[in-house]
Amino acid sequence: MRKSTTASLVFVAALGLGLPASAADSTHGAVLYKECAGCHAPQRTLMGPPHCGVVGRKAASVEGFAYSDTLRAAGFAWDEKHLHEFLTFPIMNMPGTKMGFAGMFDENDRNDVIAFLKSERAATSPACQPGADPAPPPGTNTGEIGADGAPASHQPAPGKPPQ
Ligand code: HEC
Repeated sequence: MRKSTTASLVFVAALGLGLPASAADSTHGAVLYKECAGCHAPQRTLMGPPHCGVVGRKAASVEGFAYSDTLRAAGFAWDEKHLHEFLTFPIMNMPGTKMGFAGMFDENDRNDVIAFLKSERAATSPACQPGADPAPPPGTNTGEIGADGAPASHQPAPGKPPQ
């Protein structure tokens, strides 16, 4: 009895020590986040939903964003565990997800990106304050998708024929 308790304690301790092999590094996370930034802005909807406050936010809770059914059905809030699982291999973790991102297989990389989300995309961070994430000037090709599926920057201004 006693022996097995000790063994499992040692096992749990080893797991605990094994996780943060190095302290999460949000500066490295910012570099890695470039892979996400094509689809995720702080406050604006691009291909993906805005990321301000995403850690701790209920999955699929940005109003007006056309989430997949699988994300809508998730029912959890994004904590480190769920972020690790999803980001490792999105389409395996959430079959049917619309997130077209292959995955981030390195655990330290994921730790760093999550550290970036927790700091630089916290609701209280500078990027998440009113006016801090303005839409780029018209004509800039951001890859943003308009309501009809056409890139937003290629839509004619309302009432004006395309030139
Ligand atoms: C090709 C575009 C694309 C890339 C690249 C991408 N995402 Fe996404 N992401 C999406 C889309 C689209 C969704 C919505 C998924 C759905 O509805 O199934 C999403 C959803 C998410 C969500 C859930 C948000 C919510 O409101 O529930 C998180 C968290 C997330 N992405 C993190 C990341 C991170 C971190 C990266 C970079 C490592 C990344 N994404 C890269 C398009 C992308």
